[in-house]
Amino acid sequence: MPVKRSTYILAIESSCDDTSVAVLHNDSVLSNVVANQEIHSQYGGVVPELASRAHQQNIVPVVHQALTRAGIDKKQLHGIAFTEGPGLLGSLLVGSSFAKSMAMALDIPLIAVNHMQAHILAHFIDEGQAMPPFPFLCLTISGGHTQIVKISDYFSMEVIGETLDDAVGEAFDKSAKILGLPYPGGPYIDKYAQLGNPKAFVFPHPKTKNTLDFSFSGLKTSILYFVQKKVKESEETGTDFIKENLYDICASIQHTIVSILMAKLKAASQQTGIRHIAIAGGVSANSGIRKALRDAEKEYHWHTYIPKFEYTTDNAAMIGIVGYYKFLSKRFSDLSVTARARLKI
Ligand code: KG4
Ligand code: ZN
Repeated sequence: MPVKRSTYILAIESSCDDTSVAVLHNDSVLSNVVANQEIHSQYGGVVPELASRAHQQNIVPVVHQALTRAGIDKKQLHGIAFTEGPGLLGSLLVGSSFAKSMAMALDIPLIAVNHMQAHILAHFIDEGQAMPPFPFLCLTISGGHTQIVKISDYFSMEVIGETLDDAVGEAFDKSAKILGLPYPGGPYIDKYAQLGNPKAFVFPHPKTKNTLDFSFSGLKTSILYFVQKKVKESEETGTDFIKENLYDICASIQHTIVSILMAKLKAASQQTGIRHIAIAGGVSANSGIRKALRDAEKEYHWHTYIPKFEYTTDNAAMIGIVGYYKFLSKRFSDLSVTARARLKI
């Protein structure tokens, strides 16, 4: 058997409001430090200007911590990977500028990584789990994206369905806002949904021209109108509709969103004939979609791949695994590479 070369990659993720740095040894994670930016919760959403400022403050200590936890010196590194896009430009610029300077100072390759590819390839971080064989389908669900992607090889990916308006994470977060829950509200909806009746209230499934595309803005509006109407009625009788029905409302919203996602995945599997199905992105932490996917193993004879919690929301380990595979195939960038707010898979 050929001896695997020992490769150390440092990876930086700064596309939104988390500053994260990881160190990988080949396809294994030695450290994965994530500094969350609490500041945004009081504004009910990410404030781009504050995010880039916080990245600027976090980046040096987080890089230091990642190296210390990994137990290696920066001189042992073989490459620096960073998120090129998509994301908030001011945030991306902090990570990309730091990565360029570090690669230049250490005289090692610089590797630009697509954030959406990284969410998918996080499944190849070696934790002793089964990895999806090519080709497989991935439902990438996050605060900014909702896509069904056909993955034929590490760097051969095709988006076969995507949202025409809001991302599924936004649907969760905006619904949570309507209910007066803190930002980001997805995890709160998930928590309360587990205590409620998913069939208590019925919300419509949006229609799209292309079967594999998604639309969540209509659902958000129907939830808003439904809650406003019920709140008004309850006020007239001196009751509090949201407080008294919070668990059932959350369970019904989550049930609707999960049913929409599963219907699209089922159609994608039928259209492509692919039965190896993965999920990725922040919303893949959701207990409802995880359970639905596990149930589908039996019902549709799928093989499903669900990422570990720490690799669902934004993290640098997923940037590092792409960095590793790009390093192996010498897909390096030169110092002229720039951060790109809009970047397709
Ligand atoms: O991938 P991610 O960390 O950032 C983006 O690239 O957008 O995803 C963040 C999104 C947020 O909308 C958050 O509410 C949602 O993931 N999220 C969840 C859960 N955990 C995170 N949504 C539903 N249920 C969860 N358990
Ligand atoms: Zn993300």
